[in-house]
Amino acid sequence: MSALSIAEICRLAPVVPVLVIDDLEKAVPLAEALVAGGLRALEVTLRTPVALQAIRAIADAVPGAEIGVGTLRTADDVKASVDAGARFGVAPGFTDAVMDAAEAASLPMLPGVATPSEAMAAADRGLEILKFFPAEANGGAPVLKAWASPLAGLKFCPTGGVSEKNARDYLTLPNVICVGGSWVAPKDAIANGDWETITRISKEASGLLTA
Ligand code: 3PG
Repeated sequence: MSALSIAEICRLAPVVPVLVIDDLEKAVPLAEALVAGGLRALEVTLRTPVALQAIRAIADAVPGAEIGVGTLRTADDVKASVDAGARFGVAPGFTDAVMDAAEAASLPMLPGVATPSEAMAAADRGLEILKFFPAEANGGAPVLKAWASPLAGLKFCPTGGVSEKNARDYLTLPNVICVGGSWVAPKDAIANGDWETITRISKEASGLLTA
């Protein structure tokens, strides 16, 4: 678990990289390249066989990274990720099973919502910061703009279809705290070990202004 709250983690940088790591050997240099570009909160998705080992490797070797886990779907996912060293968690949806496990482990959480009802259920549980997922497919920045007044007090990290082209549309909204996305770590750059490119894209992403 983290010494930081989810709000503090989301404020480390305007963008949380969403990482799909296939090759364990790439985990540490990838994290170093992102941190060198100013992106410190990193989400390693549980979508590859080496994801938990990647989290452990980054937690051990990249002190500048605030290492998180994504694609949490079960209580077992939460437990395994915390054991691996994850300091925050991200989920595609909002379920009691995942939230109960995260709370038991004191793991700061960013669960996903796609409707006002889900956002209200999450607020009932005391959450104030939520992932809006999948952001673009659900209507994008205009939806979050429309939520700002009726769902005042809640802040969002839109993820899913966010890129360098539309990140500003989200980040200029007062109810957006940061965005998540995979564009800062392109698959081919990871495969080729092109860490300079990833640091360059990360620097650009770090320079995006939040509202
Ligand atoms: C995902 O589902 O992998 C995340 O939401 C990231 O989406 P993206 O690849 O569209 O940035």
